[in-house]
Amino acid sequence: MPFGLGGLASLLTLGIAVTGCGSDSTQSTSPPSQPSQPTVDTVSLRTLANGKGRLIGSAVDRGFGYSGSDGVTFKTTLAREFNMLTPENDMKHERIHPGRDVYRFEPADSLVTFADANGMKVRGHTLIWHQQLAAWLTSGSWTTDETMALLVDHVTKVVSHYRGRVIEWDVVNEALGDNGSLRPSFWFDRIGRDYVELAFRTARAADSTVALFYNDYNIEGISPKSDSLYALVRDFQARGVPISGIGLESHFQLGAVPSTLGANIARFAALGLKVHITELDVRMTTPATAAQLQTQAQNYRDVVATCLQYPACDVVVMWGFTDKESWVPSAFPGWGAALILDATYQAKPAYTALHDLLK
Ligand code: G3I
Repeated sequence: MPFGLGGLASLLTLGIAVTGCGSDSTQSTSPPSQPSQPTVDTVSLRTLANGKGRLIGSAVDRGFGYSGSDGVTFKTTLAREFNMLTPENDMKHERIHPGRDVYRFEPADSLVTFADANGMKVRGHTLIWHQQLAAWLTSGSWTTDETMALLVDHVTKVVSHYRGRVIEWDVVNEALGDNGSLRPSFWFDRIGRDYVELAFRTARAADSTVALFYNDYNIEGISPKSDSLYALVRDFQARGVPISGIGLESHFQLGAVPSTLGANIARFAALGLKVHITELDVRMTTPATAAQLQTQAQNYRDVVATCLQYPACDVVVMWGFTDKESWVPSAFPGWGAALILDATYQAKPAYTALHDLLK
């Protein structure tokens, strides 16, 4: 059962090195002030996942920049509970490529360095997406050939920079609309449907071994959208376009895990693909009730238990780990409490459910 660990010193004696960056690169040894002491199990999720040959990860963004005891608690918990991380925003176009000839790798580098120092793997997120594109790109007037050259430059530079340090990339993110057609976007409007293939071929040319993923939401269950992706993947495979796996984002509303999740994982796995859970969270109306938190625990358990049934589903990444840092409340006002630790790093029933499941 989860219980209080009595402070940072206890966490550090459990063998997790915390080598931070930025303001916390030299760690304070003073314990974090209340109420930010994690209440998690002595055996971490990471240790249990390791035992099953699985990676369990979290997206990381603003919390990584916390200073003082908050920063220590955030980073210690991250390194203790997870063996993988994903930059939530720092590898996106507008952050990593802020000028046509300007790449700014430092923020994402600091996450990758932290991962390396703590024995964690990195999922790269994301190379080609219709959101969070730098203004220099979207405000420019580009021909088809110019846009293709810009795509190739971006993918090549970013993938090359992280060659050997990122194990898998979301090469193309959210290209499909809910009706299964490629959505209008900066890339689609200028290049046409070939932009997806171009991105995958370019990523492979830049790194011959990294795993290449297509990542999206509303493809977790069997639906017109996941049917379209299935057709796209089969077409890629028939024509030798490199693709290693698909990412099921898995941003669920409470009680809305699709009943066809397992069948959907199975059909993509049967194509020889990895099928990873890449952005798991379960949001609810707030303030959360005890009953809602129990349902959430069951939802987390259902997703991870289903994933564990398939060797292809060997990665589960949550879109954060503390309710202190989640995209949900700003995107869905009145909703939140979507993650497995609460805003003071206390274990929620969802944490306990995953712990029991992985044990
Ligand atoms: O960092 C700046 C800050 O300097 C500035 O003052 C502030 C003002 O708005 O913005 C901050 O950036 C925000 C960033 O999150 C960090 O908080 C952006 O405005 C905001 O747009 C951005 O939202 C991100 C969103 O993608 C963008 O669409 C969320 O954090 C991130 O969780 C979310 O992640 C996406 C995945 O990449 C793809 N799948 C869906 C998922 C949820 O939407």
